[in-house]
Amino acid sequence: RLPPRTVGPRSAALRSAGACVSRPLAWTRVDREVAAVRIALIGFMGAGKSTVGRALAEALAVDFVDADAELERRVGVSIPVIFRERGEVGFRRLERRVLGELLARGVGVVALGGGAVELDGVDALLEDWRVVYLELGLEEAKLRLGQDPNRPMLQRPDLGAVYARRLARYERLASITLDATRPVAELVESVVTWVRATSGPDGSGSPTG
Ligand code: S3P
Repeated sequence: RLPPRTVGPRSAALRSAGACVSRPLAWTRVDREVAAVRIALIGFMGAGKSTVGRALAEALAVDFVDADAELERRVGVSIPVIFRERGEVGFRRLERRVLGELLARGVGVVALGGGAVELDGVDALLEDWRVVYLELGLEEAKLRLGQDPNRPMLQRPDLGAVYARRLARYERLASITLDATRPVAELVESVVTWVRATSGPDGSGSPTG
């Protein structure tokens, strides 16, 4: 895809003639690095990983994949049905397989399911990815989600313990942590600013930069 920097028609005459002379300017190193960026969004259910991820990908003009939606697409049934028919263990097995492929080969923005950080080998899978952690308190998550039937994990009586266990993993894996209660546009802007500042000649280009 083209980077966002393009030049439009230079004169009114060209514009009125409908001429399309848009073309990319010489790509800077930052542009190239942003076009090949790999960003994974992590965080608890309800943090807005998919919403922020989609908006972020659009702002950076890169591809977006929602890992859960991709899993459902491949298996052909919804996540609640997978939980019902194969249990959580079966779901995790599928999730691990899909993420393995997405993260090994993909570029762009990927939104992970809230429990993906507990999968075996996820650290290695995320090694070359910038990891954005959308931080949300458990009570706020419950308020946002209510009794969402599409999220079988909400039925777990030990949800508090699950949250606590994951918190350490989210924090350890994060390249950057953002308060998920901020407006989506602000979150996107923060990530874009960080990506550009840590790409190119003056930034290390490294995910933790
Ligand atoms: C899960 C979170 C869900 C989905 C599945 C399990 C979890 O994704 O992967 O229902 O274990 O927290 P979201 O975080 O997008 O809701």
